Amino acid sequence: MCGIIACVGRGDDTLDTLVHGLSKLDYRGYDSAGVALTGSGDDTVEVVKRQGQLDALRRVLETARADGAEPRGTVGMAHTRWSTHGAPSDANAHPHTDCTGRVAVVHNGIIENYQALRDELAANGHEFRSETDTEVIPHLIEELFDGPEYDPADPEPAIREAVARLEGSFAVVVSVAGVETLFGARQDNPLVLGTSPRDAGSAGGERSEPRAGATYLASDVPAFRAFTDRVVYLENGEFARIDAEGWTVTGTDGEVVQTSVETVDWDPEDTGKSGYDHFMLKEIHEQPRALRQCLQGRVDEMGGRVTLDVDVDPERVQFVACGTSYHAALYGAELFRQAGVPAQAFLASEYATSPPPVDDALVIGVTQSGETADTLSALREARSRGARTLACTNTVGSTAARECDDVLYIRSGPEIGVAATKTFAAQQTALNALALSVAQERRRAGDVRDSLSALRELPGDVQAVLDESNAEALAEEFVGAPSYFFIGRGVHFPVALEGALKLKEISYGHAEGFASGELKHGPLALVTDETPVFAVVTGDGPLATKTIGNVKEVESRDAPVVAVTDGRSKVERYADHVLEIPEAPPRTAAVLANVQLQLVAYHVADRLGRPIDKPRNLAKSVTVE
Ligand code: F6R
Repeated sequence: MCGIIACVGRGDDTLDTLVHGLSKLDYRGYDSAGVALTGSGDDTVEVVKRQGQLDALRRVLETARADGAEPRGTVGMAHTRWSTHGAPSDANAHPHTDCTGRVAVVHNGIIENYQALRDELAANGHEFRSETDTEVIPHLIEELFDGPEYDPADPEPAIREAVARLEGSFAVVVSVAGVETLFGARQDNPLVLGTSPRDAGSAGGERSEPRAGATYLASDVPAFRAFTDRVVYLENGEFARIDAEGWTVTGTDGEVVQTSVETVDWDPEDTGKSGYDHFMLKEIHEQPRALRQCLQGRVDEMGGRVTLDVDVDPERVQFVACGTSYHAALYGAELFRQAGVPAQAFLASEYATSPPPVDDALVIGVTQSGETADTLSALREARSRGARTLACTNTVGSTAARECDDVLYIRSGPEIGVAATKTFAAQQTALNALALSVAQERRRAGDVRDSLSALRELPGDVQAVLDESNAEALAEEFVGAPSYFFIGRGVHFPVALEGALKLKEISYGHAEGFASGELKHGPLALVTDETPVFAVVTGDGPLATKTIGNVKEVESRDAPVVAVTDGRSKVERYADHVLEIPEAPPRTAAVLANVQLQLVAYHVADRLGRPIDKPRNLAKSVTVE
């Protein structure tokens, strides 16, 4: 939700570095984008910003370059916006500056006391040019610059004081004209520092060797991953100062903080499209690899054991999550119940406002980004009530990973498309392994043995689905339907919800998912001969038989039925179309069925020409409540 990239030390390459960084961050928001540069001797920070996607800004910069008028400087920062305060517009785009143009700020998050600050600053003569909460920050810094104690040679104290007055959530980067240093601070929003290889020895907050290379501040690692793999994850309340000499991180008290430089282990190529038309399609096809990574070293089929780096055997489990991750949480809760552990999944935004008693519960936050504000709030609420917490996340060093007692990484590799695909499959797989590890502790050995070989075969089975899917042809048939319905039972209920969410978010078509048995309690009224119903039916047990009953209910109302099935239940007798998956136990069949539904959603949206990787109004990382 809003993306920041800032750098010092890249010389003439600064502007290109920023634009490259923005191109890697626009999954965080794409309402508008802007850059600000300054260099030694400048009186003002030069800002260029435009409403719209990054290409709009690129065009302006290219024209400026052709005219020899591009913004120049060795210190730069840039921002891609997801609007919270004020509509997408040039004026509301970041960076924002003070009245004099000396101070520029980029910000991610929400300043909750911005109205009070704005009133105070306006009364002191500050003129605001945007409707944003962010704009109060440069004006506040300007105000402090005008104070008697301000030393123009060192703006840091004034910036720290301004940051201390902010309430709410923020990651901010501040640039001051003519000052070859950038300042960054974070509170409940991510900010990472990228340091050149020679800076590695500077861990511990010591100054690095002079001119060690460029240093970066960003919302997320992909923004600078092409230039360095060495990262410092800033914590809440920390303040970073980066310049050509290196970097320092200090706490609210101004004392140097002991930080550690971590090395990210994924390749910059992982964040490119690799020949696919969209990141979403690439990420759907990356699922076999993502699941292999997720399972690596965790499943010992010979020994009949799951080995995880977390050791839990809870009395009860509460899951908290949002959106697609909530569907993974529903799936995880079902598997824990099957392992004999009472488990419930909560929408994180509801949990935080009306939390259930935690007692001896393990509270598991499922969040691929590890930065979703609603989920973090719920986890903090649970912790404050004494619960042990576990983050199930894709993002090493994310807030959820750092704040929780334990972490289960899903290891799917970076996901750029706004619609979650491979991270959902990896969440299902990691939670499957976690539930198995608990079953193993409880000596439900049969459960474990039966499921281990299915887990081992899962990546290959997903590959088979991808190789043989007829989803594209099917999507062609149903494109433009007035509504799409998805049904499933047990572990297939969350798959039905996820199938509908995926279709609606990227195609903008109306879609709803239901537990199969619920259709007849109301939604059936919406079913017509124009509304396809996707029914997930696997195996040949009692759940399949019951869902087939529900399929017959819609079939007799002339709705086109698409069965997502391994064929064992013979549901195809009542279906107009089949999306086939390999035979697998229900818990892994749920992953396979979902892959077919991802492909349906993708191809419907593609046929409609939708901006699949950046659906309107959405962002990949939702860091506001
Ligand atoms: C939908 C989607 C969202 C996220 C939700 C939570 O495709 O991606 O519904 O699942 O915003 O995000 P995380 O998992 O980062 O907490």
